[in-house]
Amino acid sequence: MTDLPPEVQVYKNPEALAQAAARLFVQAADQALTCQPDFSVALAGGSTPRVLYRLLSQPEYSCRLAWDKIHLFWGDERCVPPNHPDSNYGMVKRALLEQVGIPSQNIHRMAGEDEASQARSAYETLLRNFFISAAGKTFDLVLLGMGDDGHTASLFPGTPALEETKHWVAVVEHTQPPLPLVNRLTLTLPAINAASQVIILVAGESKADRLRQVFTQPAVDQPRLPVQRVQPTNGQVLWLLDASAAQCLDRTA
Ligand code: 6PG
Repeated sequence: MTDLPPEVQVYKNPEALAQAAARLFVQAADQALTCQPDFSVALAGGSTPRVLYRLLSQPEYSCRLAWDKIHLFWGDERCVPPNHPDSNYGMVKRALLEQVGIPSQNIHRMAGEDEASQARSAYETLLRNFFISAAGKTFDLVLLGMGDDGHTASLFPGTPALEETKHWVAVVEHTQPPLPLVNRLTLTLPAINAASQVIILVAGESKADRLRQVFTQPAVDQPRLPVQRVQPTNGQVLWLLDASAAQCLDRTA
């Protein structure tokens, strides 16, 4: 088993993982805002990043963030209304937005309540306009999770959205597990891989075997797992794992 690469950090539990992610979030915002007027971040859904969002709403971190200069986007969204329990926007609203004074014009959610192809087109236009002067780059930071099947955002193994090479946003017909079985909107690999930094947050024993595959199965030209295809062209990927998820990996790091 190879040593863990430097871009993989292991923390004793999900809380310690979230604390590290919160520190990195503040660091990324500070770094971006030294040379540009705003900080753009795409948020992940799921239970792992929710711990981070709750932390960022705490004064220990929220007081260190210039929320008026931070623009929040979503990496994916379920095709449900924003007040639906499955909404990724709704999860972030409860965990973070209701606690911090971020201007509403800085919150760019995917319209899960709208007809999916129209919502896709509208979000693509929003992103293209927001990053119009960024010379092909997209987000300063993308937060991602990883499902037990190796999916990330709503890019599931063997699905058409995973093969999208032009558009930044895709509609996902989602009829097989993992739940919820609702269609999705998702950033595509071109959008994710144009980011300056990607942080992938993975916690829990159920991820351990898949992570072993990710880090021991060489990523070939077209690696099978969606999360293996997160390879920013001019940016870096950082994996933040908890000990349960990392239990099948070499721990010498
Ligand atoms: C979603 C997420 C999804 C999530 C993974 C991991 O909409 O559900 O975008 O990609 O990040 O499924 O979820 P957990 O962190 O809850 O394991």
